[in-house]
Amino acid sequence: MTKPPEVAVLGSINMDLVSVTTRRPEPGETVLGTGFSLVPGGKGANQALAARRSGARVRFLGAVGSDLFAPPLRQVLTEAGVDTARLRSLPGPSGVASIVVDADGENTIIVTPGANGGFDGLDADDLACVAAADILLCQLEIPVDTVTAAARRARAAGTVVLLNPSPARALPAELWRDVDVAVVNSGEARSLGGVLESVPHVVVTRGAQGADYRGPEGRSHVPSPRVEVVDTTGAGDAFTGALAAAWHRGPERALAWACAAGALATTRLGASSSIPDARRIGRLLGDTTSESNR
Ligand code: RIB
Repeated sequence: MTKPPEVAVLGSINMDLVSVTTRRPEPGETVLGTGFSLVPGGKGANQALAARRSGARVRFLGAVGSDLFAPPLRQVLTEAGVDTARLRSLPGPSGVASIVVDADGENTIIVTPGANGGFDGLDADDLACVAAADILLCQLEIPVDTVTAAARRARAAGTVVLLNPSPARALPAELWRDVDVAVVNSGEARSLGGVLESVPHVVVTRGAQGADYRGPEGRSHVPSPRVEVVDTTGAGDAFTGALAAAWHRGPERALAWACAAGALATTRLGASSSIPDARRIGRLLGDTTSESNR
């Protein structure tokens, strides 16, 4: 049996304040909600959980605050078996996301970064953690300089750099030079345009339609399994974390695995709470040999 890959996830961790309504309000309008939950989230933490539940060994680099949300945010990672030795505590609030989910499972999200915004400066232990990993997985809910420094160290060490440039923003050319795999949705792919041409492997997620891949050996499309959608929050994170965990199996198999993870994540409410494990993903794919993602 081969050793599972080690994934270093550098990114945000938020408490998600999730309100469920029949429809999302228009500007200036108040609507009544039908439910409310507090669910740990943040693109970084969601992707770390997804990679872990797909069988990878995962170390998380990020920051929580000193408020009431910090202990449960740390706990959701440790309980899942994610190494949180590089998760720092900063004075002030943790990141929060105000999320509204409508009857179609579509959402709107406002992220207030809190401690994630103060995660600026990697120490020697952080950089050693990046260099020791097989894959560095990053998003953009923390300062870009932190992502750029981590990617530079990863590239120097031969660690594969997987970037999910979300929420979209302008990035330095220096960062793009160090990216091996970019995972974007179709809107991000359109807005990034030519920038993606220099990235060796590009994955474009298309929701229920599946995902497209472009790499050194050509292009392909992987369809997504059909499921009953409850909430799309975190589905892209489930996809991306699962992709990182399965990348060693090659792009085709990794994309099929990731599409199944993303689809399953839409069948339950919440981000971290909806991320499937390897057993459920394997079952959906009808492939008993892939249940452990080896
Ligand atoms: O991608 C979903 C995530 O975006 C949520 O968990 C929320 O915290 C925001 O970061």
